[in-house]
Amino acid sequence: MKDTQQATLKNIKYQEAGKFEDTRFEKIHNVIFSNSNIASKTVAREIADLILRKQKERKKCVLGLATGSSPIKVYEELVRMHKEEGLSFSNVITFNLDEYYPMDKSNIQSYFYFMHEHLFNHVDILPENVHIPNGTVTSSELHQYCIEYENMIEENGGIDLQLLGIGRTGHIGFNEPGSHFNSETRSITLDYITRADAASAFLGIDNVPKKAITMGIRTVRKAKRIILLAWGHNKSLVIKKTIEGEVSSKVPATYLQHHKNTTFVLDAEAASELTRINTPWLVGPCIWDDKLSSKAIIWLCQKTGKSILKLIDEDYNDNGMSSLLAEEGSSYDLNIKMFNKVQHTITGWPGGKPNADDTSRPERAIPTKKRVLIFSPHPDDDVISMGGTFDRLVSQGHEVHIAYQTSGNIAVSDYEALKFAEVSKEMNCNKDDTFISTIIEQIKSKKENVIDTIEVRKLKGLIRKRESLAATRYLGVPDENVHFLNLPFYETGSIKKNPLGKEDIKIMCKIIEDIKPHQIYAAGDLADPHGTHRVSLNALFESLAVLKSKSFMNDCWVWLYKGAWQEWEIHEIDMAVPMSPDQVLKKRKAIFFHQSQKDGVMFQGSDIREFWMRAEDRNTKTAEKYKELGLADYAAIEAFVRWHY
Ligand code: F6R
Repeated sequence: MKDTQQATLKNIKYQEAGKFEDTRFEKIHNVIFSNSNIASKTVAREIADLILRKQKERKKCVLGLATGSSPIKVYEELVRMHKEEGLSFSNVITFNLDEYYPMDKSNIQSYFYFMHEHLFNHVDILPENVHIPNGTVTSSELHQYCIEYENMIEENGGIDLQLLGIGRTGHIGFNEPGSHFNSETRSITLDYITRADAASAFLGIDNVPKKAITMGIRTVRKAKRIILLAWGHNKSLVIKKTIEGEVSSKVPATYLQHHKNTTFVLDAEAASELTRINTPWLVGPCIWDDKLSSKAIIWLCQKTGKSILKLIDEDYNDNGMSSLLAEEGSSYDLNIKMFNKVQHTITGWPGGKPNADDTSRPERAIPTKKRVLIFSPHPDDDVISMGGTFDRLVSQGHEVHIAYQTSGNIAVSDYEALKFAEVSKEMNCNKDDTFISTIIEQIKSKKENVIDTIEVRKLKGLIRKRESLAATRYLGVPDENVHFLNLPFYETGSIKKNPLGKEDIKIMCKIIEDIKPHQIYAAGDLADPHGTHRVSLNALFESLAVLKSKSFMNDCWVWLYKGAWQEWEIHEIDMAVPMSPDQVLKKRKAIFFHQSQKDGVMFQGSDIREFWMRAEDRNTKTAEKYKELGLADYAAIEAFVRWHY
């Protein structure tokens, strides 16, 4: 894994990216970086070097550019190079891959807007050298317009370097599944998954355009050099399919296997499903530490359909794990060790079992009554992700505090807000109601994709606050133990949030210092590079770093749960809290209190089930996996990883 910037991408040869042996499943050159910041800087360096080389040769440099979250940091670095190092874009000609259709240039969701905001407004590129498909051409002009876009690229000598992102459908540009190898610039209907992924930027899937104009696969393939960027766990499956799978129109990015000068630049999460990363024992010798052996043994159980204690030497030998077997001596010893390890993660006492030997329990027995602080990024993640554990902590007598990190106001629909405003107005019928009437008017006259007024945002935040209090009361927490932090980074009124600031960290540190918790629970969405969960987690990490030297912190353990969309892998789990069927129902009811997030959720993602369904499904699946490994058969399990800070 590359974590320095010393090498340019081209210098990181195929062999270095992984030994030949390791990369034998891979059909596209790829380089894995520890994080997307360093990766983006290296990509920006290659682009800058190309621009400079072309300048020396007195030639123009033709760049094919992408939008989306993936290239943002590359553009940031190019802007920095322009401002601090004098990198000029005067010889640069750009062609963007795509644009929504129809789409006005002034719309903040347009790719026109995006490119100017992130790059063109900050460098010295000539406006006439910028080409972005025009989302306003009439449908009768569209066909001819696409031919001309294609011709313009040719007339400029073709694309020297094409930057790409990849969609979860495997699209490059907006070449969705089914796109032809020889397709050129054209209009296309967007896939449902692509629209769902764009839904948050458009404040709901219904506002996402159904069509787009995109360069074709052939247009992209003709580029002399291609760099595809992929960050985060969300991309890991499509990256595996693209790099290791067969070429197929079902995953259009696989067409890049035929391009001779393509590099995929990945961060560790996006690369995590590649065979050499995910199951390295299948490609070559491994250094077996505890973590890798656990992962491998659980994988082996899933592969063979056997429980841990039924694995035999042959299973290990036939599946690339003979060296592990040799190190340990026998499958019998390996199995017992692994079985005990998983067994010891299970506890019905998440706050520690009083008066019991705790040597092999996940939590300490002492102090028997702990102060617990549950951080919830939005006002519902606490019950969705750890409602059962939350309930146990309260009923086992711990002092449980909940801190909702953000107001969650943007996820309340206008319909919901209007309902509350109108109820309030009606209740207030004899008194002055100008304030409420203004709010009602603001909601009713709101235009599509416009940011809510401060008053409407306040109302939406209050709706979520009251829903949360209903849920925490139901679980037996006194109101004074429920804290609404309203971290400022979130309060932009739009999907794009502010960076974490001093004020955010100050608020986080204060609540931790006030409570001096023995346990902190937090949403551990480490691989969610842009979302609120990741920022909320960073806020916690930064606060822990600030507070680390305080004496009360010596007694503070941090447990991470996963947010609404994922669950920890079994081999990662440090604490598994089982739930009875009754507790499952109680958790469900606690989630129901979050009524504004029921039925029609604004930020649904591609999973259209309601949160309680997803939560139950994931908790029962974890329980099933434990059972399949040969452990006890529970109705459901919530899972946690201990974070050592
Ligand atoms: C954008 C584009 C798309 C994106 C892809 C990934 O111009 O053509 O193919 O690159 O959807 O989007 P992000 O980077 O937002 O994950």
